Amino acid sequence: MTIHNFPVLKNNRILKAVKGEKPDKLPIWIMRQAGRYLPEFMEFRKQHSFFEICQNPALACEVTLMPIRRYDLDASIIFSDILVIPQALGMTVEMKAGVGPVLPEPLTLENIKELKKDSALSRLKYVGEAITLTRHKLEGKVPLFGFSGAPWTLMGYMIEGGGSKTLSKAKKWLYAHPEKSHLLLSLLTDVIIDYLIMQIEAGAQLIQVFDSSAEYLNKSLYEKFCLPYLKKIAQKLKSRQAELHEDVPLVLFAKGAHFCLEEQADLGYDVLGIDWTLEPKFVRSVLKNKNITLQGNLDPCALYAPKEDIIGMAKNMIAEYGTERYIVNLGHGIYPDTPLEAVKAFIEAVHSVKL
Ligand code: CP3
Repeated sequence: MTIHNFPVLKNNRILKAVKGEKPDKLPIWIMRQAGRYLPEFMEFRKQHSFFEICQNPALACEVTLMPIRRYDLDASIIFSDILVIPQALGMTVEMKAGVGPVLPEPLTLENIKELKKDSALSRLKYVGEAITLTRHKLEGKVPLFGFSGAPWTLMGYMIEGGGSKTLSKAKKWLYAHPEKSHLLLSLLTDVIIDYLIMQIEAGAQLIQVFDSSAEYLNKSLYEKFCLPYLKKIAQKLKSRQAELHEDVPLVLFAKGAHFCLEEQADLGYDVLGIDWTLEPKFVRSVLKNKNITLQGNLDPCALYAPKEDIIGMAKNMIAEYGTERYIVNLGHGIYPDTPLEAVKAFIEAVHSVKL
């Protein structure tokens, strides 16, 4: 493995929370913190296209650092997107202003064999380079997350050709073409495993798997088409890390998968991300016998509230989760029009809690 000589990590709050140890302050980071709600990002985007930033390590590093310079956050997350995997498999992905991601030639039962699985990893090298560069530039200030989309969430975008209100085209595959679905999900799982191992070797200090489209499935579909693949990802990452003498924690954020919290806790991830619809006390009680750290889950829209209310909601949430094995976050990504002062108030409220 490459010896990187990275700067020593100065803020290990999150890593302590993952291990069940007591940090000096509660750790907080924010999903989608490196992006569209920051004026400096909006300015940057006038000069560079979305995927130009993703693919250029110096640009991706710069955007990753933006929220860290502005706020007292306890982690950074590499600037990229979950859709770089479909892109590396040979699909065209465009980021359309005001629309979001568009895949003009979606996956069909016929063209699935054209996916370029074997060479995909070589086309994702730029993410590893961005991670290595960012680890140096962070100077050990906070740890750096790498990430990937989960197999089902990627399958959804690939078949729908972009975002969808129902995911009915992708779900049609699950019901009408289960074998092809498993073929695709296994292919994605293999690429995700290689991709995340590459990120760990490049210097990622935590890994989050985003299953943002879990909410479109029910328990039986999730058990058949998601849990086995998520488990394989965790198992392979753990076994490879044992060989590499690495101990990078794994976080699973399965948005809307409230129907299988216990099953998620048994997959081998160290942390479960909780979406904003769930009551912290309910989640803690369901998972009381599991040795797992929780992350979440303030409603991103709560950041539209007056400052005093944000502070109150943050403190209330912390009281309900308890301060052990807990990482504060939102219950989904931050919205583009979130007031900057609201983010500051949220972070300060969390750090003011005495442990
Ligand atoms: O700050 C960070 O968290 C790091 C960067 C990051 C982006 N996307 C940058 C981005 C991360 C972790 C993601 C993950 C991602 N991308 C997810 C999973 C998380 C979630 O919110 O559920 C999903 C579903 C995507 C796919 C995607 N990319 C969508 C649906 C969109 C359009 C809506 C939006 O979020 O703006 C994107 C675009 C995108 N990804 C932007 C950013 C900063 C904005 C695009 C722009 O600058 O033009």
